[in-house]
Amino acid sequence: MTSTSFPRDFLWGAATSAYQVEGATGEDGRGLSIWDAFAATPGRTHEGATGAIAADHYHRMRQDVALMADLGLNAYRFSIAWPRVLPEGRGQVNPAGLDFYEELVDALLGHGITPVATLYHWDLPLALDEQGGWRARATAEAFADYAEIVVERLGDRMRHWVTVNEPWCSAYLGYCEGMHAPGIRDDAQGAVDAGHHLLLAHGLAAQRIRQVGGASARVGAALNLFPIFAGDAGAATVRAVERADRFHNRWFLDPLYRGRYPDGLFAELGAAPPPICDGDMELISAPTDFLGINYYNRWVVRGASSNGHNGASAGMGAGAGLEYVTNLPRAARTAMGWEVYPHGLTLLLEDLTRTYHPPALLVTENGAAYEDSVTGAGRVTDSQRLTYLREHLDALGRAVEQGAPVTGYFVWSLLDNYEWSEGYSKRFGLIYVEYATQRRIVKDSGRWYAGFIAAQRALHAGATPADAVTE
Ligand code: FCB
Repeated sequence: MTSTSFPRDFLWGAATSAYQVEGATGEDGRGLSIWDAFAATPGRTHEGATGAIAADHYHRMRQDVALMADLGLNAYRFSIAWPRVLPEGRGQVNPAGLDFYEELVDALLGHGITPVATLYHWDLPLALDEQGGWRARATAEAFADYAEIVVERLGDRMRHWVTVNEPWCSAYLGYCEGMHAPGIRDDAQGAVDAGHHLLLAHGLAAQRIRQVGGASARVGAALNLFPIFAGDAGAATVRAVERADRFHNRWFLDPLYRGRYPDGLFAELGAAPPPICDGDMELISAPTDFLGINYYNRWVVRGASSNGHNGASAGMGAGAGLEYVTNLPRAARTAMGWEVYPHGLTLLLEDLTRTYHPPALLVTENGAAYEDSVTGAGRVTDSQRLTYLREHLDALGRAVEQGAPVTGYFVWSLLDNYEWSEGYSKRFGLIYVEYATQRRIVKDSGRWYAGFIAAQRALHAGATPADAVTE
C-alpha cells in the first residue's frame, strides 16, 4: 500500500492502562481495586507480582509524556483509575485523583497529543466488588456517576472517551475462567450477568458523557475481537466456527449494534439470559461514534467431534463441540504464545465494516510481547516486534484502502508494564522499562514507529519522507 492512504488527521498513538503502569496504588487517597486484592492473593499472578509500583508512571508522568512527544505520537490512550477518583466506587470524590488526570491531559495537550481516556480498564473499586461487583446492576449505575464526574472535570479539554475495555475479559475471565480479578471460577451465570452490566455501564455512561461533554464528545467501547477460521472442512467445524464467533465476538458486538444477544449464546455458555430490564437494550445499542478494536490474533477452531488430538485444545469456554487448534504449522508466535497473523487485522476491520457499519473504527490496541534484553551498548534490538508492527500497519493500510473507516491506531503498549496475571514477565512496550531503576530505553521498534509516523506527517506536508525516517 502507499502510506498516503491514511487520512491526514489519523491518530497515531500508543496505549496503556492505569493499573498496569501507574503504581502508587496506596498514594494520594486512591482506594483499592479488585486487581490489588487479586494480585495480593497467593498463586494468582506470576511470581505474586502486583501493580504496586509497575512502571511508576504516576510519579514519572511528565517524563513519559515527553517521551511520547519525542516519538512523535499525536495521540495517547490511557485509562483512568476509578478507585483514584472514587475510592469507594461511589460517593466521596478524591480530588487528588482527578488532579492527576487533569495534569496528565494538560501535559499531553501541551505537546499536541490527543488524549483518549478509557474509563474502565479492569480496576473496579474493591468496595463495589464486595457488593456484587459486575454481577450487580448497581455497579453499572455507579459507573455512570463516575463517568459523569470525570467528564465534568476533563470534558472541557478532551473529547475521546472509551467507556469499557474488553468487557469480554472482565466478564468471562473474571467470573468464569478465574484468571482475572475478581478471580471467580465456573460461574457462567455470573459471567453472563456481568457481561450485561458491563454493556449497560457502557450505555449509561455514553449517555452521561454526551450530556456533560456536549456535541463534540466522541464515545465508544473497546472490544477484543478475533477473526475465526475453520480448522477443517467438517460440518461440526462449521458449527464450531459460528459458536466461537458468538462467544468471542458477537456476545458484545450484537447488543451494541443490533440491540440483542445472539441466539443460542447463553445456552452454549450453560447459563440463563441475564436480567434485562426494559430499555436496557436500547441504551446499550444507542449509536456511538467509534468502535475500539483490540486485535492480537485469530482463532482456528474445529468441531470437537473431529480428531481432538495433536494440538487441538478445549480452550476458553469451549464446552462441548468446540476445539481450538494450537499446532498450526509454520505459525510464528509471540512470547504470549499468540499466533502472529497480520492479515487477520485486515479481515476483521473489513468484516466489522460490512456487518455492523460503525461510523469509525479505532484500533485501540495492537502489539506483541517478546523476550527483550538490553545490549551492552544500551539498546533493545527488538527486531521481531518491529516486524510485527510493520506487518500490522501494512494490514491496517489495506483495510483503509478497502474502505474501512479507521481513524486511529494505538500500539499496545507505550511502556513495558504489568501484564495482569503474567506479572512483569511479558514485555509489550515500545519503550523498555528497567524495573529496578525505572530507566526507560526506547526500543528499536519504538524508533521505527516514530519514523513511520514522521514519514506519514511528511507525506501529508508534501515533503519527501526520506529525511523523516530515522533508520
Ligand atoms: C489486552 C488488555 C491490555 C493488555 C493486552 C496485552 O487484553 O486490554 O491491558 O494486557 O491485552
